[in-house]
Amino acid sequence: MRGMARIFVTRELPGPALTKLKETHETVVWPGELPPSYAELCAQAAQSDALLTLLTDRVDAELIAASPKLRVIANYAVGYDNIDVDAASAAGIPVGNTPDALTEATADLTFALLMAAARRIPEAASFARNGQWQTWEPAAFLGADVYGATIGIIGLGRIGQAVARRAAGFGMEVLTTETRDQHNLEHLLRRSDFVSIHLPLTDGTRGLIDADALALMKPTAILINTARGPIVDREALAQALHTGQIAGAALDVTSPEPLPPGDPLWQAPNLLVVPHIGSATWSARERMTEIAVENVLAGLEGRSLPCQVPQQLFD
Ligand code: GLV
Ligand code: GLV
Repeated sequence: MRGMARIFVTRELPGPALTKLKETHETVVWPGELPPSYAELCAQAAQSDALLTLLTDRVDAELIAASPKLRVIANYAVGYDNIDVDAASAAGIPVGNTPDALTEATADLTFALLMAAARRIPEAASFARNGQWQTWEPAAFLGADVYGATIGIIGLGRIGQAVARRAAGFGMEVLTTETRDQHNLEHLLRRSDFVSIHLPLTDGTRGLIDADALALMKPTAILINTARGPIVDREALAQALHTGQIAGAALDVTSPEPLPPGDPLWQAPNLLVVPHIGSATWSARERMTEIAVENVLAGLEGRSLPCQVPQQLFD
């Protein structure tokens, strides 16, 4: 070990693993309920040997250039679009993420959203709670069948595959595609009753689900996004919901996050939004803390990170 390092952690994290950093290094945990501002993050990074960041922290080329001591960046997420990995690589800084820990939790939430939207759970629950429930109604809250339906899974990485395993249990026909196969993507969009996105956000996936893509979907289809908000064009989505071009959307992620209170998307019918909770289970979040801590310690000790981002590994 090279002695005491300074580590900046941008939020208090679930589980006991952070104490492992606190016991061995000067560990500064941002105390705010909201993330540090970009200026605050830069000021902290400039003095730190390691950063443990959240997906809400922008770690760009400018910040990296102004942080000469920095030896490792550990992101508390599987996605790392908030980090300029090319700039980190150029500066010789390894970047870690937390895959695997959240795969099943995120796939569970995908199914929760799918089923909630199909069976109109939020609407029916507030109807019951608000005293509107007068009798058993033959034709109230009719929704879509999940069992036996066709699901289109865009992106067949860890989470996409975990969703496919769940879909098999529901007797669903599973269509899959990677982004680059345009023909296959169009086929999937035309045929699916549920379309679920499981891609990282990159230049190639930003805006992938645009007006043209939505126009291919069935009028009875439901879109689910538990990946990254900017993969869906939100104006096109609002339009598709208003005109009934698709039947509904269930989003764990939006663009921007949070979706501002006055955003026109909130006016769209048949829209369910939850606040980016895909990995929000006790065990997933505690395991993510462990992995991020292991990544920080490995980086400080000059070992290879247990979970280094693929973009650096395959370069
Ligand atoms: C959550 O969105 C993550 O990337 O872990
Ligand atoms: C529904 O409650 C039924 O018994 O069909």
